[in-house]
Amino acid sequence: MSNNNVEETSGHDPITGRATGGRIGDLTWQLSPEGTITHPDGTPYSNDELLRLGNGIDRLGDRSAHEVALDDIDLGQGATWLRPDRDLLFERLRNELPVSQQHGIPFLAGTRDLAWWAVTRHVDVTYVSRHPELFASGRGGTNIGDIPDELAEFLGSIINMDAPRHTKIRRLISAGFTPKRVAALDDAVRSRAAAIVDAIAERGECDVVSDIAAALPLQVICDMMGIPESDEQRMFELSNVILGFGDPEYVSTIGDLVNAGMELFQYGLALAEARQRDPRDDIATALVHAEVDGERLTAAELGSFFVLLVVAGNETTRTAISHGLLALSEHPDQRQLWLADMDTVSPTAVEEIVRWASPVIHFRRTATTDLDLGGQHISEGDRVVVLYLSANRDTGVFDDPYSFDVTRSPNDHVAFGAGGPHFCLGANLARREIRVMFEELLTRVPDLTVSGEPERLRSAFINGIKRMPATFTPVG
Ligand code: HEM
Repeated sequence: MSNNNVEETSGHDPITGRATGGRIGDLTWQLSPEGTITHPDGTPYSNDELLRLGNGIDRLGDRSAHEVALDDIDLGQGATWLRPDRDLLFERLRNELPVSQQHGIPFLAGTRDLAWWAVTRHVDVTYVSRHPELFASGRGGTNIGDIPDELAEFLGSIINMDAPRHTKIRRLISAGFTPKRVAALDDAVRSRAAAIVDAIAERGECDVVSDIAAALPLQVICDMMGIPESDEQRMFELSNVILGFGDPEYVSTIGDLVNAGMELFQYGLALAEARQRDPRDDIATALVHAEVDGERLTAAELGSFFVLLVVAGNETTRTAISHGLLALSEHPDQRQLWLADMDTVSPTAVEEIVRWASPVIHFRRTATTDLDLGGQHISEGDRVVVLYLSANRDTGVFDDPYSFDVTRSPNDHVAFGAGGPHFCLGANLARREIRVMFEELLTRVPDLTVSGEPERLRSAFINGIKRMPATFTPVG
């Protein structure tokens, strides 16, 4: 092993279990009490050093996905996630070691001692999702690293809860978040999407992510909750901080992450209190007043749900739209197919975009008992991570999974979850947004084509794209 292929840790924080110092390759680091990573003498790390530290070690080096030993497929290292042959590594795991033991949180140095199971096959991802009594969401949360129970609900609301509390709160939320209320947003979705295209139409070039993909989901959530336009930019920044964790462009410490969550929570709390005093015709008001079996959401429960909504509704839909535009640029035949018969093709095209993008790469559960899964023995308390991205390329379910086919049917993807109680609450809204955005784009700027390399988010959680230039024939 070369000197650069070394990872060592020294000392652990008794509360988080995270290492307080160590070495990765040629970088020696220590964690300050504030959660900042520095050189051992206390001088700050540069952004470049932070990036290298977060990436960890690429244990596969120049070897191709077909050559490496299964044990070397190290999903705990950020570097593995940045590899261009990532899909093939998952394919190897699906075929040869469908449930594998992994160590460490990708892009987060000092977490190598944390073990988790990676579940890669569609059938197992579905089994885990549909057996919440065996795989809990409320024990340590739904991210690979543990979240203390008292913070899990505060930051994640229903996504980090189990029955019966999950059932109760989800019913209350669903009572305010009715299909009728979501359908009432249709006009707003259409006019927002049209305005987004208006704003770029004459320019002939744009950044797909900031000018198109990010704008719509953010505006729609703000419309839903009755948030003024002047606050939209701040919502955008905060959701980036939370979901971009691990990417130094957005965040460098766990403190930044908690502060962003806190600010969103406070905003949601103030919004709930304002709607209690002064009801309006928006979903925030419906949520404050929703009642099931004589119970209502408290302002704090609504504050936490607000954090989840802003986080879950924004970056996910943005990622789907960005990948969709990239896929259409790379597969012009599919664009022609869609353009030729929009009414018929749109529903299947939207599902294919969501499968292709798999915006949420994984969620985690915790085993509530000893059990066997995919040939492995799992013990009670083990972290079990379902990889939707991998399940969505499973040849056991999809014909030719690496081809982008806007007419694919059936399309049993698990990008919104694989069934079970936590299935995405915003799936229909997201489908609507994607459909309307593409219909507007295909009608008005049909030749919009990605013109440069997409800049990808460094994350094993969101399959995000940060920036991506495009050109098209300007229209007046
Ligand atoms: C393409 C866009 C989207 C994708 C890929 C996506 C994906 C997901 C996934 C994978 C889950 C977890 C499923 C599970 O654990 O079984 C989830 C849950 C959730 N999503 Fe989405 N989502 C999207 C858009 C949205 C939107 C637009 C909203 C709201 C406006 C939303 C709100 C939620 C909520 C509240 C939950 C938690 C449900 C629960 O725990 O009971 N999502 N989503």
